[in-house]
Amino acid sequence: MTDRIANAQLRGKVMSADEAAALIPAGAQIGFGGFTGSGYPKELPQALAARIRAAHEAGEDFTVNAFTGASTAPELDGALADANGIGLRTPYQSDPHMRAKINDGTSYYIDTHLSHAAQVVAEGFYGKLDFAVVEATRITEEGNIIPTSSIGNNKTYLDCAEKIIIEVNSWQSLDLEGMHDVWNGYLTPPNRPIIPIVKPGNRIGDNFLTIDPNKVVAIIETDDPDRNTPFKPIDDDSRAIAGYLLDFYDNEVKHGRLPKNLLPLQSGVGNIPNAVLDGLLNSDLENLTSYTEVIQDGMVDLIDAGKLTVASATAFSLSPEYAHKMNDEAARYRNSIILRSQEISNHPEVIRRLGVLSCNGMIEADIYGNVNSTHVAGTRMMNGIGGSGDFTRNAYISAFVSPSVAKDGAISAITPMVSHVDHTEHDVMVIITEQGLADLRGLAPRQRAKKIIENCAHPDYKAQLTEYYEAALKSSKAKHTPHDLAHSFDFHRSFLENGTMKLS
Ligand code: COA
Repeated sequence: MTDRIANAQLRGKVMSADEAAALIPAGAQIGFGGFTGSGYPKELPQALAARIRAAHEAGEDFTVNAFTGASTAPELDGALADANGIGLRTPYQSDPHMRAKINDGTSYYIDTHLSHAAQVVAEGFYGKLDFAVVEATRITEEGNIIPTSSIGNNKTYLDCAEKIIIEVNSWQSLDLEGMHDVWNGYLTPPNRPIIPIVKPGNRIGDNFLTIDPNKVVAIIETDDPDRNTPFKPIDDDSRAIAGYLLDFYDNEVKHGRLPKNLLPLQSGVGNIPNAVLDGLLNSDLENLTSYTEVIQDGMVDLIDAGKLTVASATAFSLSPEYAHKMNDEAARYRNSIILRSQEISNHPEVIRRLGVLSCNGMIEADIYGNVNSTHVAGTRMMNGIGGSGDFTRNAYISAFVSPSVAKDGAISAITPMVSHVDHTEHDVMVIITEQGLADLRGLAPRQRAKKIIENCAHPDYKAQLTEYYEAALKSSKAKHTPHDLAHSFDFHRSFLENGTMKLS
């Protein structure tokens, strides 16, 4: 037994993952820790998946409902989805096996703003939470939990669940202690106070999670690494997109609309946002700050270069190489990194107050600036909205980035009408592809359409988009936002029928 469990009462609860999984009945509702491949429980979900498989082989029904912070990793989403073990999944995922089960109807999925997820569970809309299963760096003598590489919804799940299972993971650095900030002052309206964060670096709570030790039914000792996918090498398109965004910020500074060190940055998941961070590294900007959801490799580089003074988030989303680096040097990084509960890291009140600059990936945007972040061809779930809505809706300047085409040019990221709406034209201020940037602020729909087609569409699709817009404009039915509903989804229909959005 490791010396990471200092509380005598809880030390008596140590057992194997199989023994702990045996405590979970079919139909259980489980709040798992974990956020973007960080700080998720690693052994209990796999043991539970094995138990579910055995039950299915014996002809028994066995699924659980799985709540998390955000996406997890193969040991959790992958293992349980593969065993056809998940009845309901929320609020965000990005695992290929989980995605397949959501799309073939095996599992229900509720795609939720990440800042809302804890509140909906606490309010009881899903029924009662049977278990919280979280990872800990260590358990203190008083029985408090020192979190690991994410906090996510752990506080709410531990507060709400009837029973608690803790994985104490000795792979996680003990030096993470002091990086977390858990605020216990967030109450239900009408008693909800102002969140006292006025700068990204403000610490407002404890560096541990409190629990009722009597709820703990099992503790599992593990020594397993977080499993994140490495970022793709930065390609020319990503570099070009990053360049447009940085020129745009530069211009905002010149016009006095942004301070020299910008405003707190939010950087979404994906490769392009990471390329933007790389662009910042090579810029002459200094004293940057970040109020975001996840800390990527690029942010660690900015801290190392002395350009980013503080980064507030709820989790790491690091490549394996950087995750090891974080573990080795957590004592240094905890001076400039704060991990918070996701309802605080993503809270609209704080995002609006700080004037965050958001930058998120998208599936497609339409010519009027509505954005689809989640559904391919309006129907197949990719990942989920994640925190993109929390940040976009409340940012000082909201930006969306994407290559102008996907699947070797068969798909245009700019379409006449988005096939699913996550972010409306009212919230989207800037759209950027490798072709250019469209600043939509102050533009009416007809002006937006021209700018988006001209600046952002791929040359292969410009004529088609212009043709659509002009036909819609000429139609006697064209109104404030010109559309020809008989042809609004021709791009998507063509892709589904012919494998390409290019109209012959
Ligand atoms: N139609 C079909 N597929 C598309 C597509 C489109 N219009 N646009 C992109 N794709 C596919 C890509 O081909 C790629 O597929 P692959 O994995 O098979 O290669 C995949 O989507 C990812 O695209 P990529 O260009 O690599 O971008 P990304 O890694 O930045 O991901 C999103 C883009 C939209 C999926 C991602 O940003 C996301 O999940 N966003 C929602 C959540 C979010 O914004 N969170 C941040 C909040 S803090």
